[in-house]
Amino acid sequence: MYSQKVMDHFTNPRNVGEIPDADGVGEVGNPRCGDIMKIFIKVDGDIITDVKFQTFGCAAAIATSSMATELIKGKTLDEALAITNKTVADALDGLPAIKMHCSVLAEDGLRAAIEDYKRKMGLITEDEMAKP
Ligand code: FES
Ligand code: FES
Repeated sequence: MYSQKVMDHFTNPRNVGEIPDADGVGEVGNPRCGDIMKIFIKVDGDIITDVKFQTFGCAAAIATSSMATELIKGKTLDEALAITNKTVADALDGLPAIKMHCSVLAEDGLRAAIEDYKRKMGLITEDEMAKP
């Protein structure tokens, strides 16, 4: 039921791990199943220079986390924010419909990490943060 690319990113996920001195950290849970994703970013200017993730979740959650990190590395914060769970699923040649909601974890984690970075930099206040 999974595409080759999903199986590839699930069995050999890219950018797994943590960045101890990360500039932004996002941690999100999927309310549908309780799976958790943590994502770490390093930012230079407004470019995401490094990214690592830890996902405790299903195959789709791990594959989308892995692909999401590949898609945002080297991108500007705005370019990364334009990436949606659909972008990530398309880059994996699609996900089974019942697994689409798993890909939301990667999108949410990514947004949370960027928000964390912006908050630390004083670029946004708590009030301006997107409410879940
Ligand atoms: Fe459970 Fe995706 S959140 S199947
Ligand atoms: Fe939880 Fe897929 S089953 S993210």
